[in-house]
Amino acid sequence: MRIDKLLANMGYGSRKDVKLLLKQGAVRIDDQPVKDAKRHVDTDSETVTVLGEPVEYRPFVYLMMNKPAGVISATEDKVESTVIELIDPAYAHYELFPVGRLDKDTTGLLLITNDGAFNHALMSPRKHVDKVYIAEVDGEIAVEDIRMFAEGVALEDGYTTKPARLEVLSQTGQKSVVRLTLSEGKYHQVKRMIAAVGKHVEQLERVQIGPLELDESLQPGEYRELTEAEVEQFLS
Ligand code: URA
Repeated sequence: MRIDKLLANMGYGSRKDVKLLLKQGAVRIDDQPVKDAKRHVDTDSETVTVLGEPVEYRPFVYLMMNKPAGVISATEDKVESTVIELIDPAYAHYELFPVGRLDKDTTGLLLITNDGAFNHALMSPRKHVDKVYIAEVDGEIAVEDIRMFAEGVALEDGYTTKPARLEVLSQTGQKSVVRLTLSEGKYHQVKRMIAAVGKHVEQLERVQIGPLELDESLQPGEYRELTEAEVEQFLS
């Protein structure tokens, strides 16, 4: 990759800014000053520094966020606050986007990346990545509801869902806490499935995507980078 493109990608300013850095002699490759913006860099074997600081090149970023309620899963919006606004501006040049969507009032595990292949691996219906939710429900879950979810529920628009696992975690009077495992991600799917059996979701949290569980040390609004192993399990 050209040195000017690499540095611009890594957040050292526009190509013009980078050209200036090069001209000033601030950039070195393997400790040799480089002034030619067209110089190609082999990021595997060569070390780039800017003003003596090593540039750690990486094209992709993968974040796990504990999404808080009240923000939307979008990159920008004229009215609402977005999950991307919660991320440190130091990441801005990566042009991150959320992998799928959680409703504004839904909390929990949201992945954020700039890697289209990673997004596809998680979102493609053919990949069947399970998503696990904990829902607080107004209403008593019947054995019949569990059976219906296991077979597929007809939603109000006529769509019949794929089989889903519904487990009751607790039941107190008219309130239930359930764990629901889905292999698809239709619009408002959990709320619409629960509505299809005559109950109402009062709170919804996503706690797992495939094998990846929400990191319990993350407070709402906090995020951390995924480890290499966590990323690889979706890409391999
Ligand atoms: N299902 C919903 O109804 N809402 C979400 O945010 C996610 C799944």
